[in-house]
Amino acid sequence: MAGETHNATQSSATQERTAVVTGGTSGIGAAIVQTLTDAGWRVISLSRRNTVDTPTFAASASVVHCPVDLTTPQGVQLACEVVRIHVEQLHLLVNCAGSIAPEERIAHVAYAEVERSLRLHALAPMFLTQGLADLLRQAGGSVVHIGSVYDEIADTDVAGYALAKAVLPQLTRMQARELAPRVRVNLVRPGHIDTPMTRAAPADYLAAVAAKTPLGTLGRAADVAQAVMFLASEGARFITGAELRVDGGYLTNAGLAS
Ligand SMILES: NC(=O)c1ccc[n+]([C@@H]2O[C@H](COP(=O)([O-])OP(=O)(O)OC[C@H]3O[C@@H](n4cnc5c(N)ncnc54)[C@H](OP(=O)(O)O)[C@@H]3O)[C@@H](O)[C@H]2O)c1
Repeated sequence: MAGETHNATQSSATQERTAVVTGGTSGIGAAIVQTLTDAGWRVISLSRRNTVDTPTFAASASVVHCPVDLTTPQGVQLACEVVRIHVEQLHLLVNCAGSIAPEERIAHVAYAEVERSLRLHALAPMFLTQGLADLLRQAGGSVVHIGSVYDEIADTDVAGYALAKAVLPQLTRMQARELAPRVRVNLVRPGHIDTPMTRAAPADYLAAVAAKTPLGTLGRAADVAQAVMFLASEGARFITGAELRVDGGYLTNAGLAS
């Protein structure tokens, strides 16, 4: 019906809901997979690794995993084809896959690294959404991109990463407008979350981050998963093109004196 939205959680409680989660094998993505399966969703997980030894995957018949590298157009296309084999409609796409190359200041970051980062953090979310848009429309589903507060922090050693993440707020707005009213598109912007990615950073850096965070600690992957669950829910039926920061207040503390 024209002008009417129909989101995933408007479906009857008995109808099985399916999500695609990129980067579902570690950290935030794994927490999202766990939270979704706990809530009765079926999940298709996409990331490079072949063997999946997380408890979520081992214990659950609700998760299908496909090994795919999302930095190439072929990988994104393969991912879309795999999803189509499994489902005819899609209630949620979470674009969470990501990685950081350490020590890449803007003055000497390599061209290839910026390109890799843009492919993974910007082009994959853009073209996965494009490739799965008809399945999302079928279900009246939604998309959640996992961005980062580093999309606006300029003082950074992760130049390629930050530039690529900065594409996501505009991508979210454009897709939200284009895919409405059937599909909602939103952005979650985590701050510092305790995951394998973050644990690669020096301990003194992480201690300084926690000290600068008003809530006094790093976040948990489950904190981000809860934000995703809200945006995918009926409670968020009037929210699209929006950004939800999950950073313990870190960005409120950007003053020079602090
Ligand atoms: N942790 C934080 O503090 C934080 C803060 C802000 C934003 N984020 C964002 O949150 C997302 C998840 O981060 P995380 O901390 O959970 O990191 P993580 O534990 O390192 O997990 C990253 C996930 O991305 C997948 N991945 C990496 N490169 C890939 C590729 N080329 N193709 C397909 N999958 C790929 C990895 O699986 P494979 O190794 O199997 O490919 C893994 O499942 C990322 O987008 C990150 O930028 C994290």
